[in-house]
Amino acid sequence: MTIYGEGLVVYDTKYGYTKLVAEKIVEGMREVEGIETAIADVKEVNFEEVASSDVVVIGSPNHVGKPPVVLTRSSINSANLI
Ligand SMILES: Cc1cc2nc3c(=O)[nH]c(=O)nc-3n(C[C@H](O)[C@H](O)[C@H](O)COP(=O)(O)O)c2cc1C
Repeated sequence: MTIYGEGLVVYDTKYGYTKLVAEKIVEGMREVEGIETAIADVKEVNFEEVASSDVVVIGSPNHVGKPPVVLTRSSINSANLI
């Protein structure tokens, strides 16, 4: 069975490590037939693309036990996504 859909991996990174992991996840997702997967830094992402994707993976570093503010619900809400 082939699944068709659009995936998006959104990440935040300060030093580049989360981006490296996000790229590896994208590599894996692209091995799945029928799934088109894009990757974007949250600071540059088009939130309409987030809303229209079938699968969204969020890659986050740990900042004092939480995701960075840019990945929080209030930041996404201010972009009128939710
Ligand atoms: C402001 C700040 C707070 C952090 N707080 C924690 C923490 O509480 N626990 C932890 O294990 N690492 C913490 N870290 C380390 C990051 O999680 C770690 O450096 C991460 O792998 C960096 O990812 P990046 O290269 O994508 O920025 C913190 C880093 C920053 C910049």
